[in-house]
Amino acid sequence: MNRVEGRVKVTGLATYAAEYPVEGVTYACPVQSLIARGRVARVDVSQAMEMPGVLGVLSVDDPPELAEDADGELALFQSRDVAYRGQLIAAVVADTYENARAAADAVRVEYEPADHDVGLRADHPRLYRPDVVNPNLPADTEQGDVEAGLAGAATAVDVTYTTPVLHNNPMEPHASLALWDVEGRLLVYDSAQGASPDRDTIAKTLGLPPARVRVVSRHVGGGFGCKGTTRPQAVLAAVAARAVGRPVKVALTRQQMFDVTGYRTPTIQRLRLGADDEGRLTALEHVAYEQSSTLVEFAEQTATPARTMYAAPALRTAHRLVRLDVATPSWMRAPGECPGMYALESAIDELACAAGIDPVELRVRNDPETEPESGLPFSSRNLVACLREGARRFGWDRRDPAPGVRREGEWLIGTGVAASTYPARRRPSQAVARVRDGDFLVQVAAADIGTGARTALTRIAAETLGVAPGRVHVELGDSDLPDAPVAGGSMGTASWGSAVVRACEELMKNGKEGRADTTEEIKGESELARHAFGAQFAEVRVSAVTGEVRVPRLLGVFAAGRIVDARLARSQFVGGMTMGLGMALMEETLTDEEFGGFLRRDLAQYHVPACADVESIEAVWLDEQDDALNPMGCKGIGEIGIVGTAAAVGNAVHHATGHRVRDLPITPAKILLPAS
Ligand code: MOS
Repeated sequence: MNRVEGRVKVTGLATYAAEYPVEGVTYACPVQSLIARGRVARVDVSQAMEMPGVLGVLSVDDPPELAEDADGELALFQSRDVAYRGQLIAAVVADTYENARAAADAVRVEYEPADHDVGLRADHPRLYRPDVVNPNLPADTEQGDVEAGLAGAATAVDVTYTTPVLHNNPMEPHASLALWDVEGRLLVYDSAQGASPDRDTIAKTLGLPPARVRVVSRHVGGGFGCKGTTRPQAVLAAVAARAVGRPVKVALTRQQMFDVTGYRTPTIQRLRLGADDEGRLTALEHVAYEQSSTLVEFAEQTATPARTMYAAPALRTAHRLVRLDVATPSWMRAPGECPGMYALESAIDELACAAGIDPVELRVRNDPETEPESGLPFSSRNLVACLREGARRFGWDRRDPAPGVRREGEWLIGTGVAASTYPARRRPSQAVARVRDGDFLVQVAAADIGTGARTALTRIAAETLGVAPGRVHVELGDSDLPDAPVAGGSMGTASWGSAVVRACEELMKNGKEGRADTTEEIKGESELARHAFGAQFAEVRVSAVTGEVRVPRLLGVFAAGRIVDARLARSQFVGGMTMGLGMALMEETLTDEEFGGFLRRDLAQYHVPACADVESIEAVWLDEQDDALNPMGCKGIGEIGIVGTAAAVGNAVHHATGHRVRDLPITPAKILLPAS
């Protein structure tokens, strides 16, 4: 299907959070810390208050009333302690955006700076093992004897990879517009990935019952995770509106997004793999080092895909965390799986090279019968079929495994493969379906962050009701609609769609209205390992002169259950693979060791792939029947496209050049390093 809101989007009629026309609106602009650690001694607002149009200033000198247990990143102006450079420490409200921004520049802050530490190292003295990693998994797992497995291996590799800080860069910057009505109920137009959880978090932060808050996010211009949790601009808009008694809009700049809307933690990952002389794993160990802030523990599940991917008699995974003077990391497309599979799938390629076994074949030989760590049967697992189909389409059988031997002029040519995986979960959701004017209205507080969720749910409802999609109208993006989980973890369609199907089934029974809540249905699920799988293939051309890497071909083959809509699905897969291409070759936020915070805080310096970087990306999928998932039989597809892409590109660069770059991104300087 074409997107049902496509027409309003391309004609500019779709209203995003910052665009709602509101009478008497005012603007808040934050003031950010210039030190990475220490205390705010004094905030001098005298000059700012004299500036034109200024209505008020909020700061630690006069903190807004918030709940005691507010999340550390949302407890605005509650503490004089500075946790990271860029943290919000004050804000100015004025009649126009320009006046607010000028006055924010005129706020003078006196600091008591302290020494900071923003550097992640694998030998950091404050590394510790978190109790759990996201979403609530054991930090460490171990079975069998890794040392014995490595000692007895015919081939072994011990390799360390690093991935940098990465930032989500949705086209629409974060924005919130807050209005309090006369009864003291708060309305927030927010750029958020879930109206219900955003409402709950805003209410909790302000110490209000959830019924006193409404969040509306009808259209969202991308999120990828950075709008999956409530961000400080929403709280700032709410407290500023309460302070000045007028509606307040906060629209973050691209630079401010880099500071306060989360980022993918940098990782250091050590992989030790051993294999027998037929390439069967004798041991697999994956240890991930990552960071969080001093405010909040965010422990990314980087090493968890190793618990699912390959059969090994000895399997150990571990996560170590260090709390630094940095902003709290957050979700970025396939948090955990994406960086974790970059390292694991690169190491598998190194093992295949060392063993002299084809990397597709090596993966096939290590495909497990049941999930290695849990022992659970898979609801469905078609990784081998993806690898075989990808190899066939890509022409893999014609590949000469020797690295660094294909050359056309200055261009070295190589191909690489990597596997992909992502969990297929769902969460409880509610939905309502009713007859309206002879057609059908479906309501659910789902979020369409540009994925086509509104369209997918229209199709799911139409198929359940047995009517044309044009007769179904889906309303989402409003917390006053039936409660629904976040658009995250590739769970949106599976979660909301389950509720929509049940509501439509109920409607067909009584002819008027159907209400659904899938809480009990999900509680009753059988225990199975539910994951989507895929195989990524890349061809690269590497300039022997400049070190430039071009990617003429990417192919992804996915097994993700039933595909609800081919056009929407292709867009998700190709989008994910494009983001993976960016991760492989260009995306990197530099940490400012000297002053704290980040360097490269705009799109001129933080490069994401543009059309010219993407030559041919093909995404296909296998028809996969899996009845143990949800009524649609679908697995999530929002994130699996990015998983494995960077490893496939890196493996292809090695095949082209004979040089293994183990630190992302693979820049020309790193390619040319061995020659210099
Ligand atoms: Mo996605 S990082 O789960 O929004």
